[in-house]
Amino acid sequence: MEKIIDESKQGEALTLETSQANTKKLFIESYGCQMNFSDSEVVASILANEGYNTTTNLEDADLVLVNTCSIREKAELTVRKRLEKYQAVKRKKNPMMKVGVLGCMAERLKSKFLEEEKIVDLVVGPDAYKDIPNLLSEVEEGREAINVILSKEETYGDISPVRLQSNGVTAFVSITRGCDNMCTFCVVPFTRGRERSRDPQSILEEVKALNQKGFKEITLLGQNVDSYLWYGGGLKKDFAKASPMQQATAVNFAQLMDIVATANPKMRIRFSTSNPQDMTLDVIEVMAKHKNICNYIHLPVQSGSDRILKLMNRQHTAQEYRTLIDNIKAIIPNIGISQDMITGFPTETEADHQDTLELMRYVGYDYGFMFYYSERPGTLAERKMEDDIPLEIKKRRLAEVIALQKELSRNNLQQYKGKVVEILIEKESKKDPNEWSGRNDQNIVAVFPKEQYQVGDYVEVLIEECTTGTLIGKAQGYAPYWRA
Ligand code: SAH
Ligand code: F3S
Repeated sequence: MEKIIDESKQGEALTLETSQANTKKLFIESYGCQMNFSDSEVVASILANEGYNTTTNLEDADLVLVNTCSIREKAELTVRKRLEKYQAVKRKKNPMMKVGVLGCMAERLKSKFLEEEKIVDLVVGPDAYKDIPNLLSEVEEGREAINVILSKEETYGDISPVRLQSNGVTAFVSITRGCDNMCTFCVVPFTRGRERSRDPQSILEEVKALNQKGFKEITLLGQNVDSYLWYGGGLKKDFAKASPMQQATAVNFAQLMDIVATANPKMRIRFSTSNPQDMTLDVIEVMAKHKNICNYIHLPVQSGSDRILKLMNRQHTAQEYRTLIDNIKAIIPNIGISQDMITGFPTETEADHQDTLELMRYVGYDYGFMFYYSERPGTLAERKMEDDIPLEIKKRRLAEVIALQKELSRNNLQQYKGKVVEILIEKESKKDPNEWSGRNDQNIVAVFPKEQYQVGDYVEVLIEECTTGTLIGKAQGYAPYWRA
């Protein structure tokens, strides 16, 4: 499937407009989730003020930064390989180059990184990016530099991110940081700290600036967006301690989406990620009310077995999840829904696995991101449960989950044949330079001949054919609603 995240894939080195005044060169690449890609834009912005322009050529770089992911072991191994590559370049071509590790691996391994990987000069956790200029001064003076302090406040709301390697059409806007949910398999609460939300005013300003630059679609980002709550700053878990006034005027996720969608009626809005236990139907009502909020939800469930859900510390049963899906579909019948699934969690039986397949059939997901369980150091599952499912069984169950998802996706896509969908053109199709590629409301990719249309145009496309992941059609004209 196209949508499966593959940690072994190359990270992306990113560039932005260059400033004449800047003389130093930054090579920055990101692995893992969208939040990392978004954070790298914050980092590039901080370093632009320190005299750095970005480069995509490792051999030219004064500073190399790698924004890392710890979610599965494979993700970490990929980064270790990249460090070997930097080492080789440094030895042979660029002896002055400095190397820094950012993101979740920096937070997880802390000073161990400096001991284990001689190439690393600088280790910076996800809440400490504003300290990079100070840390670089330390490195210049020959000292090791590390800051992995997690924050109660930091949301980078005051930094306007530079847009790296942007298509000029779609952008990420982060709205919450951290996660309080403590799923037993997940390292994120340890690497990204406690949940805190960003001031709606700074979110609105960022969206407005994007709008003025011609961007057409934003994705509101957070580990758990439904948990968004602004009451003047501070941790989500301290909300109960806020003043009555702060509590009364707090802004939740449904309200935030309402405000952003109302202020930017011609901007298409998406969000990611939702957690079933924190998702409420007022969010769906707001989606239904605004044409410019996409009818698409990424709603990870991880397993269809109640016993496994409980061991994972997910706060709902499979039946509660089904009911949530039913309620969502009752309000928005043509909603696109995607999943995350984990196969081979400790003690998972064939019956549990069948429950997962059955839940997938019930929901009829449009697509999914599927993984086999990878034990992560420090998580509750690692401390309390034996990783007892043999790798070949984890992989076989994963293959079955992926095969079923392909079948579900293919069936869903077939239903678009003969219908007209609105597509925002994002880029040239990878397969054919004569075709555009874009997505519909439900986040499904469509390709069609370019004709007179341009990147950033909204067009109505008649769907004629489809593959397992892509709709194929022909433009019928501009989509009227989105015309300025
Ligand atoms: N709320 C987050 C979820 C983070 S992790 C978000 O914004 O996407 C993304 C997915 O990785 C999870 O939903 C889960 O399916 C998978 N995952 C997390 N920890 C894992 C582990 N230890 N092994 C395998 N998959 C894992
Ligand atoms: Fe991880 Fe669960 Fe949060 S998957 S990011 S702990 S909702």
